[in-house]
Amino acid sequence: MKRLGDRTVVITGAAGGIGRAIARAFAAEGASLVLGDLAPTLVDARDEIHRGGGCVVAVQGDVTRSEDMAALAACAVDEGGALDVLVTCAGLGGSGLLAEQDEADWMRVVDVNLGGTYRAIRAALPHMMARGSGRIVTIASVLGKMGGYGFVTAYAASKHGVIGLTRALATELGSQGFRGITVNAICPGYVRAGMGVAMQSTKAGPMSGIEIFERYYRRQVPLRRMIEPEEIAHAAVFLALPESAGITGQAVNVDGGFFMS
Ligand SMILES: NC(=O)c1ccc[n+]([C@@H]2O[C@H](COP(=O)([O-])OP(=O)(O)OC[C@H]3O[C@@H](n4cnc5c(N)ncnc54)[C@H](O)[C@@H]3O)[C@@H](O)[C@H]2O)c1
Repeated sequence: MKRLGDRTVVITGAAGGIGRAIARAFAAEGASLVLGDLAPTLVDARDEIHRGGGCVVAVQGDVTRSEDMAALAACAVDEGGALDVLVTCAGLGGSGLLAEQDEADWMRVVDVNLGGTYRAIRAALPHMMARGSGRIVTIASVLGKMGGYGFVTAYAASKHGVIGLTRALATELGSQGFRGITVNAICPGYVRAGMGVAMQSTKAGPMSGIEIFERYYRRQVPLRRMIEPEEIAHAAVFLALPESAGITGQAVNVDGGFFMS
């Protein structure tokens, strides 16, 4: 049974490892999709959903540009008649030491991860407020709740910001009487996709995410494994279902038990 057949879902960062898994999961539930990403490979994500029989449109755009986010939101309303669900998945890793990292690089991470989440929500929210209903799912990180182990100040700062934005907006919408709009964050741990497998700076030099997980993280994760991108996608779908209407302002860890708070 397809549970979201009457919903239109906007996903930023939909060309990435986790974003594509989220798109596939919503398509499997029958939702109409509007996919956004800066990368030209967005068309591959669109074509994959299309080949599977899904209803999908791709809008190439940059989350650091408000006008691009407005175009993404408008496309959902034009094509699907409404913007029911927004998943903000666009993000940048950008590891480095604070004392050495270029200021522009540091600021870029914050502008994409936090500023981009804000701009996507800013564009989508008026459409949800006009109908009094909607679901916003931000993709944060466990590094939005902890300091990590070095080389992640910009990333951790941006993801702490995403969780703060998520919680504060949930409160704000409730106090304004918008009780049909929920806002929640998903906090992935180490995921076997995208930036979770990409090369990163470490004290011991550049290393792949998989190597970093094996060396430094596995022992600290109760389930002793990386998270699959589909597991993040299932959590996103759950937060868009009618059954989750009572959940808002939460930051849900999907991390194998790595961070328990
Ligand atoms: N993979 C992990 O282990 C992990 C862990 C925790 C959180 N996350 C978060 O999950 C989300 C997806 O990450 P991923 O692992 O799939 O990485 P990814 O690099 O595969 O995906 C990120 C996507 O965001 C897009 N993007 C970057 N800058 C953009 C911009 N300015 N405008 C529009 N799109 C832009 C990229 O083109 C890319 O397709 C990110 O927010 C990331 O911080 C990932």
